[in-house]
Amino acid sequence: MTPIIQTTTITKQYGDVIAVNAITFSVDQGSLFGLLGPNGSGKTTMIKMLTGQIRPTSGSAVVIGHDVITDPIGLRRDVGIIPEQETPPSFLTAIEYLDLVGDLRQIPDLRGQADWWFDFLDFGDKRNVLCKDLSRGTRQKLMLTQAFIHRPSLALIDEPLINFDPIMQRKVKDFLVSYVRQGNTIFISTHILAIAEEICSGFAILHKGSLLHLGTPRELTEQGLSLDEFFLSLVRRDSDA
Ligand SMILES: Nc1ncnc2c1ncn2[C@@H]1O[C@H](COP(=O)(O)OP(=O)(O)OP(=O)(O)O)[C@@H](O)[C@H]1O
Ligand SMILES: [Mg+2]
Repeated sequence: MTPIIQTTTITKQYGDVIAVNAITFSVDQGSLFGLLGPNGSGKTTMIKMLTGQIRPTSGSAVVIGHDVITDPIGLRRDVGIIPEQETPPSFLTAIEYLDLVGDLRQIPDLRGQADWWFDFLDFGDKRNVLCKDLSRGTRQKLMLTQAFIHRPSLALIDEPLINFDPIMQRKVKDFLVSYVRQGNTIFISTHILAIAEEICSGFAILHKGSLLHLGTPRELTEQGLSLDEFFLSLVRRDSDA
């Protein structure tokens, strides 16, 4: 199977800090892949490189056929993205923001799609409210909507569930799982290991910019290990090394 994401010794250095250190890995189409790691381990930096927001210092990546260095614009057109802590523009209403996304992404039935999302995520009463006046969770609903409204074959989301209540978390987890069942791919970063354990088909653990482990929750279950235990022991061992 051709991987939908393939990195080759991808590296990002900020001055003296090596945020991502020569990481090679691939993600197959149809997977729900989780990028895990402590604060500052390089998750957001990796997602920014895989979405053409920043350029690798060295190494390379090809994402749905686009080279992230030579074709970041084509790449951003094709994927769905929610950057870390990104919120919609404060000066637009929810529907105005989606109209803008619809224009940029040339979505023919934008209003019909938007209605589906307002209903699905239960925030239709906020469609004419300025984004600056939305709660954090509602802003996240809007960000989720803009990431999926053009039905991308690949979505990259930095912490998809962090602002959601348990009911909305359940709904969004079920959506993500059903979305990949339709043959799409989702790449998330998360600190919530229980979520990765429940919904991810594969995961990577980063620490201090390096790749510590690539695996699947199923492999851990077969060994009688929880992802939480595994993560903590791996990161502690690496910190002591
Ligand atoms: N623009 C930047 N300039 C300088 N250093 C940066 C910049 N962005 C990130 N870093 C550094 O790169 C390293 C990785 O940061 P990154 O944000 O990728 O981590 P993360 O795994 O997403 O962390 P968190 O879990 O806290 O979101 C950190 O040491 C961070 O301080
Ligand atoms: Mg981050």
